Amino acid sequence: MSDHRFAVLKFGGTSVSRPERWAVIRAQAQSQREEGRTPVLVCSAVAGVTDDLQTVIAQAGSGSDVDTPLARITERQAELARGLGVDLAVIADEMEELRRLALGAQLLGETSPAVQARILAKGERMSTRLGAAWLSAQGLPTRWVDARDLLQSDGRGPLARRMLAAHVPWDLAPALQRDLGGDAVIVTQGFVARDPDGATCVLGRGGSDTSATTLAAKLGAEVCEIWTDVPGMFTADPRKQPAARLLRALGYAEAQEIATTGAKVLHPRAIAPARAARIPISIRCTPQPDMAGTRIAADAPTGPAQVKALSRRRGLVLVSMETLGMWQEVGFLADAFGVFADHGLSIDTVSTSETNVTVTLDPHANAMDPTVLDAVLADLAPICTAKLVTQVASVSLVGRGIRSILHQLAPALEQFEDHRVHLVSQAASDLNLTFVVDESTADRLLAKLHAMLFAHRPIDAVIGRTWQELFATPSEAPETSPPWWASAASDLHAIAAAGTPVYVYDAATIDARAQALAQLTHVDQALYAVKANAHPEVIRRAAAAGLGFECVSPGEVEWVREHVGPDAIVLFTPNFAPREDYERGFAAHAHVTLDNLHPLEAWPDVFNDRDIFVRVDPGQGRGHHAKVRTAGARSKFGVAPDQLETFAKLADQAGCRIIGLHAHTGSGVLDPTAWQHTAVVLAQCASLFPLATILDVGGGLGVPDRPGRPPLDLDAVDLALASVRQAHPEWSIWIEPGRYLIAEAGVLLTRVTQRKQKGDLRYVGVDAGMHTLLRPALYGAHHHVANLTSPQAEPEIVTVVGPICETGDVLARDRLIAQSKEGDLLLLGTAGAYGAVMANDYNRRGRPREVVRLKNEMED
Ligand code: LLP
Repeated sequence: MSDHRFAVLKFGGTSVSRPERWAVIRAQAQSQREEGRTPVLVCSAVAGVTDDLQTVIAQAGSGSDVDTPLARITERQAELARGLGVDLAVIADEMEELRRLALGAQLLGETSPAVQARILAKGERMSTRLGAAWLSAQGLPTRWVDARDLLQSDGRGPLARRMLAAHVPWDLAPALQRDLGGDAVIVTQGFVARDPDGATCVLGRGGSDTSATTLAAKLGAEVCEIWTDVPGMFTADPRKQPAARLLRALGYAEAQEIATTGAKVLHPRAIAPARAARIPISIRCTPQPDMAGTRIAADAPTGPAQVKALSRRRGLVLVSMETLGMWQEVGFLADAFGVFADHGLSIDTVSTSETNVTVTLDPHANAMDPTVLDAVLADLAPICTAKLVTQVASVSLVGRGIRSILHQLAPALEQFEDHRVHLVSQAASDLNLTFVVDESTADRLLAKLHAMLFAHRPIDAVIGRTWQELFATPSEAPETSPPWWASAASDLHAIAAAGTPVYVYDAATIDARAQALAQLTHVDQALYAVKANAHPEVIRRAAAAGLGFECVSPGEVEWVREHVGPDAIVLFTPNFAPREDYERGFAAHAHVTLDNLHPLEAWPDVFNDRDIFVRVDPGQGRGHHAKVRTAGARSKFGVAPDQLETFAKLADQAGCRIIGLHAHTGSGVLDPTAWQHTAVVLAQCASLFPLATILDVGGGLGVPDRPGRPPLDLDAVDLALASVRQAHPEWSIWIEPGRYLIAEAGVLLTRVTQRKQKGDLRYVGVDAGMHTLLRPALYGAHHHVANLTSPQAEPEIVTVVGPICETGDVLARDRLIAQSKEGDLLLLGTAGAYGAVMANDYNRRGRPREVVRLKNEMED
């Protein structure tokens, strides 16, 4: 063990270009020193300079003008020096040598790889000299170290590789530890190393990242931080998908895979040294230094198998090789692959079947000259029929244990229904599943897959916030007011004192939502879906605002009649209900909906001389989880459009009138145009039902499941329905929201019973469980958790669990919650809908209490 402790911090081009970013660099170096580590700062060249140096090389090589790019380089350095208040003379000798090298090469009209390396290394040498001078001037003990004295390449490979894409071994170097250890901040260059002959060489693309991790491994550093202009790796390219989520923790192998398949923040080559030495890599954001970025480490929380990122690569070339009975032919694959190798092409993905082998070639790894491809086809001709497909792109799902979760991906894979898939390839490492599709569809496909896989994932220890949320400027940030419970703590403590777990519903919030629904301009009747919460006070308040009711069982119909009387409009929408349920519905003067032919065929007498609604399956289900999507071929609800004609005939025969068309696509929908789409589908079926005057477009109006997320825009829902109204002024439009009225009005209060640490995981046990709130266990639903007793305590990542004898009894997984102790009161938000109604007495643990919070009093 060395006596010295190190932290290697790498700062990229944009981080070292601006004077204010150097203040961040100084602060980070200082805080490492305060924690007893020697900061080793590995810096890139000022942004743009490496490109300018490439231009110098290209121009010099062709014997043309080098003054313009050299002047640009000088100006970039001068600007930084001015901003830092450092004398440009600090780099005078570096600039002079650069000029000499450039002019010499210009004279010769060529640049050898060795000269190119010396020219390219200048960018880092200049930025670090300026930076080190500034840090010293700030009073920080600073030592500038020539990177060539730290990193020596192994000198293997042809000359160009040896000098321009050098490989540096990363064995622990005790002498280096002794030399660099101490009080001074070390400032050195990324990308630059020395070859065994003593000449300057550079590390190639991503070189500074690799320098940092290699140096970290050699020094046995405690951490290697990669500071750049984004805070880490994301679930997709955030510049294309603003809803991409920050990946907070990754293992080395996954990070390598994500870096390889697209993410640009960390070069994939850089991971190996850190991995070998088990040094954690943290990706940090220089413009936002307080933001925790992505941490890549051996101890990353593994969690369940899951997709962590999507990536796409364009411009691939696909070669399909057909041959009959190739498996009988010994060595076919070797021969075929040999052809690619002979032409210097590296194969990216492979898929094989009995008669076909298809491969993709990545243009970034191959010089894709059409003549080379023609030559490959010609060489393959004797052994198979080879075909070339260009303009294809790959879309990869990257994550851990993909093979074990293929079934969970089924809804996402439905996206491929409309896309031609040329090839599917599953990595042997089980870290990625790749689809090769036409380039023109790849972006759209990726956007859809991303929405399906990540839009509803709760924030946890692995998946963080969206890019939008992290970088929304205040004007772009959604305006959300704090939830009602944020200013009701004393009421909530008083209610909880009488016993937990308890659901509390805020009357004012219920009234506000009910009124908003009643006032929609283009909705003639809003019906409250009683199944969301059947508390009598909730029902009475809905009725007082003028809402009708949507009920799914005779029990609900009769309950509404009991609590609000005979006048309320009630729509009964049973599904696979027995014959007597329909009879009870009619007896209670409800409008009855039918969503199957069987009742009309088997019990026509029940429907004789009745007015009924037909529930249509509009084809596409929507909602927050597959289990709540109630349309489409795999759902048990609704009459399929191709059976509607028969339905109309049977209704006629039974002597009943279809007065309304109904559809409900699912629950928890945040797209304000969803109900307009449903109305359009219903309108298309209307010609079969000439007596129908009502279009009921169902419920499903969603609410954000965590504070700060944008709510459903109710005005936009209304506006979208205006177009339906305009096209069909003869129809009444009905909707039937449940959740929208009551979800946010309700919270669940529960007390901490105990804590437990097991392995990496910290559990907080509470007196509520899946028997009290089933949604997390059933749908993986997210409910915000707050500690009402100690809201200011230091936050910690915990998993909140109940007392039920099931592993699935988890209310919130890997959440950042203010530290709690036994007896603390926790609140679960957005729990008013499908909370108490789905509670049960499993394990004979009893059902929760329910309390309505009126302004200043409480009512049980
Ligand atoms: N109308 C019909 C015909 C329905 O089936 C439903 C809900 C609604 C209206 C009201 O949907 P809402 O506006 O509340 O989303 N237990 C699940 C939700 C199941 C919804 C069942 N049907 C959950 O906790 O998310």
